[in-house]
Amino acid sequence: MTAGSQDPPDSETYTKGVPMGLLDGKVAIVTGGGRGLGRAHCLALAGHGAAVVVNDPGAGLHGENTGETPAEAVAAEITAAGGRAIPDHSSVTDWAATEKLIALAAAEFGRLDVVVNNAGILRDRMLFSMTEDDFDAVIAVHLKGTFAMTRHACAYWREEAKRGAGRGGRIINTTSGTGLFGTVGQANYGAAKAGIVSLTTITALEMARYGVTANAISPIAHTRMTAGIAGVAVRNPVPDGPAPEGFDPQDPANASGLVVYLASDASAWLTGQVFRVHGNRVQRLRGWRAAGEYRSRSGGAVEPQELITGLPEVYGTTPAGRLPDPAVHGA
Ligand SMILES: NC(=O)c1ccc[n+]([C@@H]2O[C@H](COP(=O)([O-])OP(=O)(O)OC[C@H]3O[C@@H](n4cnc5c(N)ncnc54)[C@H](O)[C@@H]3O)[C@@H](O)[C@H]2O)c1
Repeated sequence: MTAGSQDPPDSETYTKGVPMGLLDGKVAIVTGGGRGLGRAHCLALAGHGAAVVVNDPGAGLHGENTGETPAEAVAAEITAAGGRAIPDHSSVTDWAATEKLIALAAAEFGRLDVVVNNAGILRDRMLFSMTEDDFDAVIAVHLKGTFAMTRHACAYWREEAKRGAGRGGRIINTTSGTGLFGTVGQANYGAAKAGIVSLTTITALEMARYGVTANAISPIAHTRMTAGIAGVAVRNPVPDGPAPEGFDPQDPANASGLVVYLASDASAWLTGQVFRVHGNRVQRLRGWRAAGEYRSRSGGAVEPQELITGLPEVYGTTPAGRLPDPAVHGA
């Protein structure tokens, strides 16, 4: 899906008459909002005027129980700063609980405008050692959890539209470089994160008529999730270019400006998109596109034999004899 169903507004529309916050009067749910990127998103959304439901069961990095209550802490931080927030301890893997979570936001704050699907766990292993449980647990939190929240929120927004009270909505999903480009040892996580991109595209297509947009971010930040992963820093070097003194390119809060924008009315023109956000950069990503083709000699179905020379031509490896592009085939 391409952006551009509406014209983007000029920034003056949203800066005239400040101090109105970009999200004044809006209500957001952030899953996994108790730590890392989710916490940063909660604080930023609240800082721009949104009431926030901070969802987080306080899970360990691998999805285990910890007894911790980070959602309480973040909600308390927001209210102490004069904002509006409540904690919620549901797991996004719980279908009925996610439905109640949507209802809770609407009951507590009178409406729901934004869902940020951010909750996540890791169970990294080479795929030949990965257990069924490792796979299911990661898919359950990332892919099914994102679906569950999206499904219930979209049902809510559709009902609102049907009774003439539709104000649209915003889904902001979280994918990752692993889902987009692949990472060794993360077959479960990458499959979930790639699935989230597809879910984003289809949500954008289905919900456009209700004024609901769906976009995905692919963040890079220093959190407990990346602390233990060797090679993350090497694969994702700090963006270069001028930056203010003391700026930390790995601060999770760097991703939250994009989240606030995508949550706001100003982003109504933009849906079905994926953004990479790291340090001081927001990159627009583009997905699968045809990059070459082979046509059968007969004009009918392609015969396997003709692909012996046909496909290397498509990849440009003959007649020059060049090696396949590592950016395409993986390094
Ligand atoms: N940190 C990065 O560089 C990076 C890169 C790409 C994508 N991401 C994604 O960003 C999101 C946030 O990651 P983070 O780095 O802040 O990790 P984090 O571990 O600091 O935070 C994840 C939060 O999700 C919560 N959570 C876990 N299971 C949950 C469940 N079933 N229901 C609700 N909440 C649950 C955890 O309790 C935790 O507070 C994840 O989706 C992650 O995959 C992070």
